[in-house]
Amino acid sequence: MPSADPVPASGTTATVHVLPVAVAPSSVSPSAVSPSAVSPSAVPSATARPEPVPAGLAPVRLLTAIPAPRMPVSVDAVADAELDAAFAAAAARYWHPVARSGDVGAAPVRATLLGVPLVLWRPAGGQNGPTGQNGPSGQNGPSGPAGPSGPRAQNGPTGQDRPGGVAALVDRCPHRGVPLSDGVVDGAGRLRCAYHAWAFAGDGRCVEVPQQPGRRVPDIIAAQSVRVAEGAGLVWACLVDAADEARPRPRFPEIEDRGWPHHVGAVQDWQAQATRQVENFCDIGHFSVLHTDTFGNADVLAVEPYPVHRDGATVRAEYRYPSVDPAAAPGPDGRRPVGETHFRYRIELPFAVWLAGAHGPGSVMFAVSAPTSATTLRLYWMSAFDPAVHGDGPVDGAALQAVEDRIWAPDRRIVESQRPVRVFAADEVHRAFDALGVAYRRALRDLGFAPSGVTGGA
Ligand code: FES
Ligand SMILES: [Fe+2]
Repeated sequence: MPSADPVPASGTTATVHVLPVAVAPSSVSPSAVSPSAVSPSAVPSATARPEPVPAGLAPVRLLTAIPAPRMPVSVDAVADAELDAAFAAAAARYWHPVARSGDVGAAPVRATLLGVPLVLWRPAGGQNGPTGQNGPSGQNGPSGPAGPSGPRAQNGPTGQDRPGGVAALVDRCPHRGVPLSDGVVDGAGRLRCAYHAWAFAGDGRCVEVPQQPGRRVPDIIAAQSVRVAEGAGLVWACLVDAADEARPRPRFPEIEDRGWPHHVGAVQDWQAQATRQVENFCDIGHFSVLHTDTFGNADVLAVEPYPVHRDGATVRAEYRYPSVDPAAAPGPDGRRPVGETHFRYRIELPFAVWLAGAHGPGSVMFAVSAPTSATTLRLYWMSAFDPAVHGDGPVDGAALQAVEDRIWAPDRRIVESQRPVRVFAADEVHRAFDALGVAYRRALRDLGFAPSGVTGGA
């Protein structure tokens, strides 16, 4: 006799109870209350008479069982901590943005990369590069690796040595653990701790202990330095030594080499894994669903087959999409004009995406998802325009930002809603139009972003 199908054809096994909870019902939806937050003994049976609600407490509908899935789903039994450890170990071997160049000056600035708090400043002064402006980017120092890292191991150029260059230290004073970013930069460009005013040079060396004037500071006293570089209007950091670096930082040749007029967009913090954001940025199938108020064409949901190419460093694809002009006024029929947009994607693994055609012919967008932790990201983006097509006048950054804000907003809402947060924590179903996302996930897995043996995600 065949065994019974354990998955119900429809509906759920959820049981709903009414419990007094000290939260206003309007501020909490049933799904926002975690069943695990209530011990079984605290949950009355379905037949129990509801307890009287004490004054000040309001009844809230509480789910006491997780809805049964509507389809079989095999979830890898991998702890979040294990997934996060693999993610962090893999991601640490790459360069990631930690600030816009124009946001870092003589005063200390906080940043976070993979859970590591950082402090950034320009020891030689506040020669900020432009942010959100046109023309050459804020190239105040040489691009690329800035020498080996580690306490006292800075033999290469550092922020202290480069005129206007950025210094980056782990944001923790080696004396008593106070955040160095709470300190001030003195007239010599040294960062002085807020607690005892020890002075730190851009390479992390402690160069003065005011409580012991005239005494040489032992070499062992240093803040942890981090390798930094600048390019494409961003400050980049890499948490590992050069020997452990997986590849050089991504470059944006249209800005860094060709000097295309450009706009550096506003930074956004998303409560999502960087993998999810990158995949969303490259997800063709959602254009005609999620972005119909801007470039999405609600009349064309079908996605034609498209080739995906992958090598060790990139995943590439291109697609011709019948997009709607987000800036055009509707015609007499209420529709805005439609034109073909030729999108060309190049994912610079793991989290940078170069997208040609984003704003039509002769335009390139660069979106980089910096993993502030294994489950959060800071999004940087910029767009550049070929002067041969658009002229060499300044980019209307405010107008561009306004349009992009309308595109990022629904993307952010969707990506932050995705569960599980960790892309390799569960199997998900894929269709042919997901080809770019699937190739991206497999590339990440091959690069070690999932623990060995984990088959979820792709
Ligand atoms: S805690 Fe920083 S100098 Fe004492
Ligand atoms: Fe989108």
